[in-house]
Amino acid sequence: MPVLGVLISGRGSNLQSIINAVRSGQLDATVAVVISNRADAAGLRRARDAGIETVCLQPHDHADRDAYDRALARNLSDRCVDLVCLAGFMRIVGPALVEAFPNRILNIHPSLLPAFPGLNAQQQALDHGVRITGATVHLVTSMLDDGPIVAQAAVPVFDTDTVEALSDRILIEEHRLYVEAIRMMLEGRWTVSGRRFVRDG
Ligand code: GRF
Repeated sequence: MPVLGVLISGRGSNLQSIINAVRSGQLDATVAVVISNRADAAGLRRARDAGIETVCLQPHDHADRDAYDRALARNLSDRCVDLVCLAGFMRIVGPALVEAFPNRILNIHPSLLPAFPGLNAQQQALDHGVRITGATVHLVTSMLDDGPIVAQAAVPVFDTDTVEALSDRILIEEHRLYVEAIRMMLEGRWTVSGRRFVRDG
């Protein structure tokens, strides 16, 4: 059975939807480990409640960014992780991790990339005045919110939206989309051609 490793920094609602999908059999996989860069991440509790091993890797315990990324890669490899899922992991991952898991790291971002990369994507969408935004799952490269796009979902923006209302509407789509993208990745009938994620057949 394919093995997932999930990296978080906070709330962990995407982690929860992955856990739920594994439990219900919607995802034919197991989550071997949840790693957080913050000891106070609420998602760690969700993992423990689901009986999943947790690891807290704090940046200040490592000499530099590269040493931190090597520690992440080691922790994931030690548990035979096949696919790494970033789920609200608030760090840019560097070459040491990306090269250890080529085309095997996914991230979810709350906008239709390449629009509104980086922090506060929902606020950026409101500020720009777009009528449609959404969520993107993409393969991770060392560039922020870059990398081949695996799946996207569109979400309308309403005139009355607050950032909270818009974020909640996007989050509903995120939870569905991430599970769908993970399933697609695990099925294995895909290739990467330049910037494009191409499904076979
Ligand atoms: C999500 O909006 C995700 O797209 C972004 O960070 C947020 C994490 O939320 N990368 P949660 O921790 O999964 O609830």
